[in-house]
Amino acid sequence: MGASFDVIVKGATVVNQDGSGVRDIGIRNGRIAALGSLGGAKAAEVIDAKGLHVLPGVIDTQVHFREPGLEHKEDLETGSRAAVMGGVTAVFEMPNTKPLTTSQATLADKVRRARGRMFCDFAFYVGGTRENIEDIPALERLEGSAGIKVFIGSSTGDLLVDDDPSLERIIAKTSRRAAFHAEDETRLKARMGLRRPGDASSHPVWRDEEAALLATRRLVGLAERKRRRVHVLHVSSAEEMAFLAAHKDWASVEATPHHLTLVAPECYERLGTYAQMNPPVRGERHRQAIWAALADGVVDVLGSDHAPHTREEKDHPYPESHSGMTGVQTLVPIMLDHVNAGRLTLERLVDLTSHGPQRLFGIRGKGRIAVGGDADLTIVDMKRRETISNRWIQSRCGWTPYDGVKVQGWPVGTVVRGRRVMWDGEIAGAAGGAPVGFHEGW
Ligand code: DOR
Repeated sequence: MGASFDVIVKGATVVNQDGSGVRDIGIRNGRIAALGSLGGAKAAEVIDAKGLHVLPGVIDTQVHFREPGLEHKEDLETGSRAAVMGGVTAVFEMPNTKPLTTSQATLADKVRRARGRMFCDFAFYVGGTRENIEDIPALERLEGSAGIKVFIGSSTGDLLVDDDPSLERIIAKTSRRAAFHAEDETRLKARMGLRRPGDASSHPVWRDEEAALLATRRLVGLAERKRRRVHVLHVSSAEEMAFLAAHKDWASVEATPHHLTLVAPECYERLGTYAQMNPPVRGERHRQAIWAALADGVVDVLGSDHAPHTREEKDHPYPESHSGMTGVQTLVPIMLDHVNAGRLTLERLVDLTSHGPQRLFGIRGKGRIAVGGDADLTIVDMKRRETISNRWIQSRCGWTPYDGVKVQGWPVGTVVRGRRVMWDGEIAGAAGGAPVGFHEGW
């Protein structure tokens, strides 16, 4: 008599921390119960995955889903629909909503809104401000809290802590890894006159690499002094990568698909304000340096920084145009195309999108395909050729900077705790997302 499972994923190449190989995956009660050759076993549902690759569920640790308050751009349901359509099984969402997520009540409100409406699992960053410093230890430990996020330079929304004494006090209060948007506010203010009206290619001139480096240096200096872990989001320059490579003891590093894929000036000539993002996409020297840091192991995770704005908001003439682009749905296909082009291995991609987030943030039960762990799976077809199109985009704003881009490698299935939620381009299951659990959190 063979064993019996709720689901068996059969015959796929499983990509994991121990390499890649053909294995069946037996799932029971939402967790992985067996790995190997499960020929004689019974299951209520068999997913035939021959010819496909199964990755540990992709965790996108930086998205903006805009609810509450900015639902004309996105909401938790549409954002999570985009996530699972793109093969993403869990997201960490950002606090620059309206109201800002800076308290127990605003976090609990997001968790309540997410239940029964989000298709993937979720956690929400809590904005660190000058006002909630004393609450940080409690805010880090609430159900659904991804930890603390701070904007050191202003971007979309009103969250800004730009002075070192306040930053130091916030950092000193954290015991989990906190995440930072590092651009130096004083330099940004001083250089505002460099923005050329109607010309988005002046965005990286205004928000230059020195602004990013100055803030990253200040942040890492404070982290070292306080002996706290900090996570530097969306690192965009060669100089920051060189600096961070020498400061890995306390700082972890996020890279984004758009900083790896798009390049100035070409992206601004082709996409105009639709390539406008903070920190900006820069020139080829920077893109090459981010790839080199990824190859060298300096980069710990990839986050999409999915930051939807409506076409109307993007169509305002620069600099009134809003900064941000969609990304949660295109993270996997864009990166699989880079894998097929030989720029990184599939194992390194898994390290960046599953093991990396688990290790950095101390996520419970996710990040690898292992018996006892959550059955979160990103099932991909490495041979499939597709053209990314605005029509495919589930985000409420309905556009992607990659419209018309041809890729090889495509997400064909998304399984969240044993439940198929996307299959072959269709939503296949209910919105059963749950809060991500953390060793040091809730
Ligand atoms: O371009 C950006 N847009 N960068 C950010 O840091 C925020 C984001 C947004 O929320 O629109």
